[in-house]
Amino acid sequence: MKKALKIAGIGFGILVLLLIATAAWIQFTPMPTYEVKPPTVQLPVDSASLAKGRKVVELACTHCHLGEDGKMSGRLFSQATDPFGEMWTANITQHPTKGIGRYTDGELAYLLRTGINRDGRVVGPMMCHPNMSDEDLASIIAYLRSDSGIMQPSEATHPAPAYLSSFMVKALIKFGVFKPLPYDGKPISAPPATDQIAYGRYLATEFYECYGCHSASFETNNPMEPEKSPGFFAGGNPVPDEEFNTCISRNITPSKEHGIGSWTEEQFLSAVKGGIRPDGSMLQHQMPRFAVLDDEEVRAIWAYLQTVPPSENNPLRVEAK
Ligand code: HEC
Ligand code: HEC
Repeated sequence: MKKALKIAGIGFGILVLLLIATAAWIQFTPMPTYEVKPPTVQLPVDSASLAKGRKVVELACTHCHLGEDGKMSGRLFSQATDPFGEMWTANITQHPTKGIGRYTDGELAYLLRTGINRDGRVVGPMMCHPNMSDEDLASIIAYLRSDSGIMQPSEATHPAPAYLSSFMVKALIKFGVFKPLPYDGKPISAPPATDQIAYGRYLATEFYECYGCHSASFETNNPMEPEKSPGFFAGGNPVPDEEFNTCISRNITPSKEHGIGSWTEEQFLSAVKGGIRPDGSMLQHQMPRFAVLDDEEVRAIWAYLQTVPPSENNPLRVEAK
């Protein structure tokens, strides 16, 4: 009996030592960094590409990066009470040291593919477009480098994200739960606009990322294979605005009861471009106004959404909880 107790005691002691060692490793060793492998980027100079870049930046970057000075100087993105703690989005104006002036085009492209910043730290995947065509990605970078007013240098600086000193988050990063998106550097192209359904899929899952807000949750989305995101296009994701007021996204699968299965294409067009529902009510501002989209783009997204399996999820039931 005594011997058994002794062995148990030693076992317990070893376990405690192991736990202390692991905790010390998590807390005191530096965050893992990743090698930055910038691809070669050919920036377009034609006005059509710049206009395209502007569309993505205005619809996919400004809601997070637009600061109080009206430039892309960054804003408070998550509050101290959030699981990740206080975090600011970065100053991505052209400032040479405080903004993206310090990035090369290749480093920006690598960040937008993988979420790895130029120091090798994982900051994504909020800004990642892993399957966007090389051409469209280059048009984003061209716009970031353009003479657009929102990109002009801002002096704004922000506190380092709280998660860098959070034990929990450090553990998740060190155990590889949060990791960068894979990128093998192979050329990526977009389907032609003439292939309407494939083009609509590209716009809805990659270019304008409709699926990101319209699937179950930002945390469970699968940027590499969007169709594998839980609740794909079935809504229910609480989408916050700048003041952290949330609005639950809607089911936009072809379900007749809970989705947009009984809508017409024209009704879809006015909802997406003008924010007006078929019953005349206005969509809340957490749904961006896609007024700058060409009708052809919205029609392609519509055609594609008809091919998404209908989901009987009622997102508003979640809201009523
Ligand atoms: C959902 C919010 C969100 C969206 C959308 C977003 N970002 Fe960010 N971005 C962030 C946050 C938060 C950080 C800072 C993360 C950190 O420091 O850990 C950041 C950091 C950055 C950085 C700086 C990385 C560094 O540390 O040097 C760049 C560059 C950037 N974003 C570019 C973009 C571009 C371009 C887009 C649009 C294609 C975009 N982001 C869309 C939230 C967002
Ligand atoms: C930033 C998050 C976000 C993005 C990106 C987004 N949506 Fe939405 N969308 C919402 C939210 C939130 C609502 C619910 C608004 C409300 O209830 O007033 C909504 C509502 C809608 C509705 C109305 C559905 C209904 O039943 O009333 C349609 C249609 C729609 N979105 C289509 C799209 C399309 C198409 C795209 C991509 C081009 C897109 N959304 C991108 C957040 C988003």
